[in-house]
Amino acid sequence: MIPESFIQDVLARTDIVGLIERYVPLKRGGANYMACCPFHNEKSPSFSVSPTKQFYHCFGCGAHGTAIGFLMEYCGMSFRDAVKDLAQQCGLQMPEDDAPQQDRARTVSLLDATLRAARYFREQLRHAPTAIEYLKRRGLTGEVARQFGIGYAPDDWNGLRTAFGADYDEASLVEAGLVIQNDAGRRYDRFRDRVMFPILDQRGNIIGFGGRVIGQGEPKYLNSPETPLFEKGRELYGLFQARQAIREAGLVVVTEGYMDVVALAQYGFGAAVATLGTATTATHIQKLFRQAEKVVFCFDGDNAGRKAARRALENCLDQLADDREVRFLFLPAEHDPDSFIRVEGLEAFRRAVDEAMPLSEFLLQTLRGDLNLGIPEDRAKLVHEARAFVPKIAAPVLQVQTVRLIADDADMSAEEVAHALGIRLPGSRHGNRRSPPARPRTPRTAPAGPQRQLLHLTARFPELLDRLPGDLEALFGESAEATLLQTFRDAHDHDHFSAATLAALYESCEDDARRALLLELLNHEDEAFADDDAREVARQAARLEFDGHFTNLQIAALDHEFASLQQRLTRGEALNTEEMRRFRELPAEKQQLRSGQKMS
Ligand code: GTP
Ligand code: MN
Repeated sequence: MIPESFIQDVLARTDIVGLIERYVPLKRGGANYMACCPFHNEKSPSFSVSPTKQFYHCFGCGAHGTAIGFLMEYCGMSFRDAVKDLAQQCGLQMPEDDAPQQDRARTVSLLDATLRAARYFREQLRHAPTAIEYLKRRGLTGEVARQFGIGYAPDDWNGLRTAFGADYDEASLVEAGLVIQNDAGRRYDRFRDRVMFPILDQRGNIIGFGGRVIGQGEPKYLNSPETPLFEKGRELYGLFQARQAIREAGLVVVTEGYMDVVALAQYGFGAAVATLGTATTATHIQKLFRQAEKVVFCFDGDNAGRKAARRALENCLDQLADDREVRFLFLPAEHDPDSFIRVEGLEAFRRAVDEAMPLSEFLLQTLRGDLNLGIPEDRAKLVHEARAFVPKIAAPVLQVQTVRLIADDADMSAEEVAHALGIRLPGSRHGNRRSPPARPRTPRTAPAGPQRQLLHLTARFPELLDRLPGDLEALFGESAEATLLQTFRDAHDHDHFSAATLAALYESCEDDARRALLLELLNHEDEAFADDDAREVARQAARLEFDGHFTNLQIAALDHEFASLQQRLTRGEALNTEEMRRFRELPAEKQQLRSGQKMS
C-alpha cells in the first residue's frame, strides 16, 4: 500500500518539465512549455506543460495528468511502477519496498555497464566496413541504424576491457551478460564480430543485446542471457522506439525478429515490435494492450509460425475485452515481414495488416484442424477442443459470438454448446453446468461494507459494472463509493477502463474521501494470476461475491425503508395508502431477495 503522503512527497520533489523533456522536446512558450502532443498526431504544438501546476495538458486530444500519469500513459507503466520510478529518481525509498538498497545500486551499475557497452558498439560500427556493408546490403540507412542504436562488436576477446579501461568493472559486466567467465576463471567478451541490436525497456534503458553474425554462421543470433535487468518473457524488442507510431496507427504488429522490426521501420512501418526468441506471454500482451487496442501478430507462413500463433492465441484470450482486438497475419511461406516489405512494399504490408485474420476465425480454424465435421464424433471433438479456449475469452460479447460460430460448425444450438463448455450465456436462465465455487461467506457487516466491496470487485473486473442497476443513488444513497461507481461506469461505457483511468481519476479528484478510495484501489491494481484457470476461477468467484454484496445492499435498503416507516407508525403518525402498501409488502420482498440469494 502506497500512502497518499508518499505520493504527494514524490510529486512535490519531481519536476514534470524535466521529466517530460527527456521524452519529448519542449519549447518555452510564456509561462508554460509547449510541444507537439506525444499522444496524438499533430503538426502544430498543443501539448503544454505547466511548471507551476506540475501538470501537462493537451488542448488537442485532452490528455492530461501529473508526472505519474505521464509515465503511465507514455511509457505504459503501472501506477506502482510509475510512483516507484519517480521515487527512485528523487532519492526516496518506496515505503514497503523491501528490495534492499544494494539491489538498486546494483541495477544502476548494471545499466551503466550496458549503456557504456552500447556506446562502444556504436562507435565500433563506424570503423567496421564489413558490418556497414552488411547493413547496407540489407537495405538499412544510417538513420534507421541510429534510431535503433545498432552497433558492432569487434572480433576481439577483450574489446570491452580495452574500451572501459580503468572503469572496467568485471563483476558488473559478467552479471550484465556482456562478459563470460569460463571454468578456468578466464573472462572474455560474449559478443564478438557481430552486429549488435540493443534491447531497451519501456524507459529507454538498455537492458540487453541481440548480436547477429555477419553473413553465414552459427548461432545466427546470440542474445544476452537473462540477467537482473533482462527477462525475455516481459520485454519486447522495439517497443520503446515504436510507441509514437503505435499510437498514431492505433495498433501494434508483433513479429518474431529484430530485423523484422528494423526493416519495417526502414520502409515506413514504425508500429512493430518483436518477441525475443520466446513465445508470446500474457505479460507481453498486457504491455501491448496498454499502448494500443489492436494487436496484430505477424508470423511466418510455415509450420513453426502456425505453432507460435497458437501459443499467442492461448495466451491472449484472458487479456481480451470487447473493445480490444487481436488479429493474426500469416505471410506467404517464403516470407518474413522483413523480406515481405522489401519485395512487396509498404502499402502491400499495410493492406496485409488491415486484412489480417480475426482471432475468432483463427480460433475456429485451430479447432477444426483436420476434423471431418460431416461425422458426429468429429463435431463432438470440436466442442471438446473448444473447452481449452472459449471459457478463457475475457470479452463477454466476443465469447458469445464464438460460441455461436462453434454451434454452427457443431450443428448444435448455442445453448447446448455453452452448456458443454461450462459457460453461461448472458440472458440464459440455465446456469452453469460446472458447480460454481462455494460462495464466500459474507459476514452481515463486512468490515469495509458492501459498497466498498463492490467498488473493489468492479475495479478488478470492470465487466461487473454491467450488473449494476441504472439508478445507483436509489440503492446507495449519496456516498463516495456510489459517485465513483457511477464514474467507473461512465468510463467503462465510453472507453477502456483501466488502471490508467483510475490514476487519472485519482489525479484529478478534488474530493478527499474519493481520493482515498481511489488510492486504495490503485494499490491493488497489479493482480497476478498463476495461470488462465486461476484467473477464470477468480473471475467467477468475483461475480458471485459481487451478486452477494449487491443483494445485501438491496436488503439493507429495504430494512432501512421498513424501519423508518415502522418508527413513524410507533410515533403515531399516519401513513398514506402507498406507504401502508409498502409497509405490508416489504417483508415479503425482502424474503424473496433472501431466497434468491440462497438459490443462486
Ligand atoms: P535475419 O536472418 O537476420 O533476417 O533474422 P530473422 O529475424 O529473420 O531470424 P529468424 O526468423 O531466423 O529468427 C527470429 C528470431 O529468433 C531472431 O530475431 C532471434 O531473436 C531468434 N533467433 C534466431 N536465430 C537464433 C539463434 O541461432 N539463437 C538464438 N538464441 N536466437 C535466435
Ligand atoms: Mn529475416
